Amino acid sequence: MISQPFIHLATLLFLLSSSFAFPNYADVLKRQEVEDANSPFPPVNPPLPPGPPEFTGAKLVNDPAHPWEPLRDGDVRGPCPGMNTLASHGYMSRDGVASPSEMVTAVQEGLNMENKFAIFVTYLNHLMNGNLVTDLLSIGGKTSKTGPDPPAPAHAGGLSVHGTFEGDAGMTRGDAFFGDNHSFNQTLFDKFIDFSNRFGGGFYNLTVAGELRFQRLQDSIATNPQFSFKNVRFITSYGESVFPVNFFVDGRQTEKKLDMESARLFFSDMKFPADFFRAPMPMSNEGLSEIFQMHPFLPGGNVDGKVDNFVVDPASATFDTPSCVLYEDILNTVKGLYPNPTGVLKRNLIKNLRFFYDGFSAVFSDGCAEQFPYGQQ
Ligand code: HEM
Repeated sequence: MISQPFIHLATLLFLLSSSFAFPNYADVLKRQEVEDANSPFPPVNPPLPPGPPEFTGAKLVNDPAHPWEPLRDGDVRGPCPGMNTLASHGYMSRDGVASPSEMVTAVQEGLNMENKFAIFVTYLNHLMNGNLVTDLLSIGGKTSKTGPDPPAPAHAGGLSVHGTFEGDAGMTRGDAFFGDNHSFNQTLFDKFIDFSNRFGGGFYNLTVAGELRFQRLQDSIATNPQFSFKNVRFITSYGESVFPVNFFVDGRQTEKKLDMESARLFFSDMKFPADFFRAPMPMSNEGLSEIFQMHPFLPGGNVDGKVDNFVVDPASATFDTPSCVLYEDILNTVKGLYPNPTGVLKRNLIKNLRFFYDGFSAVFSDGCAEQFPYGQQ
């Protein structure tokens, strides 16, 4: 079952300035918006998201069909230890670029993520950071492997783009302000271990998750003058904090606690532990409410470019606002990226927004009505 509200996605969208500059606008528009079967990246008519697999129990996933392999030149990895590990074991393309439907299949097969939750997370990321014409998303940074750039301000920059889904106060990744928001950070992992020792007897569990989440917020308030923690980031960060308990603990284990060697393998080496079994049932963000209640926190950020200057943002989605607040925020982000789509791009936006709503409305079941900012066909 999907637990409680997940929540808001935020808006932060800003966009990528010069690094995603647009070299040849007319040409790109042509390639992006017209069915051009001769292009090396022909436009794709996205398939429906996969349904749940037939078997949803525990099973060996570090199996001979999915051996871990080291990175090759050009392989892309990013801020998500789950996606990194699935790519390094071949549950999705090992180069780190795949369609959202491949990603949903991968998180279901390899880690037993619940179907609608997987659709929600994946299509949200795809709408903000993927190439909607080629139907490809990078699990790391910008790469030419996702195809020609979309018309600005869209960027197809991948999961590492700061301020869309990726955000501040991560557990093992630094804040973008400090220069690297996607690589494994040993200093932060040392803190992860320290908290697991102090609050979990040497294991990462929900108590540790609640304490570490709160501490990482205090760290960012004290050190990052651009600290921002609201809307999508506010909601999803609490989910990410329970993921190691829900997904990285061997599915045969009855106690939900993660040992440090396994944690290192996932977070740093992008590797399943030997003989690893996935979770015994489809999982999502179970435990989120418990860890949030340990240290309730309001969304906001440091203002005026100063540290220790945290101001609550009353407009941000919280766990108490109706899910429509979050939905509106996400739609505004998408509309900001794609103000005037035409052709294939428009068709694929309509389709991906539908797919996304399918997941969103299952995760947030308080009845927020679907919207169609680009029409329905
Ligand atoms: C079972 C599947 C998954 C697991 C176990 C997982 C696990 C995690 C964890 C533990 C983090 C926090 C990393 C940290 O703070 O050090 C994280 C971050 C992230 N995940 Fe995943 N994830 C999963 C699926 C996905 C999917 C499907 C997507 C999108 C396609 C995704 C995108 C991200 C992104 C963009 C971040 C960075 C957010 C940040 O700034 O902390 N994840 N993930």
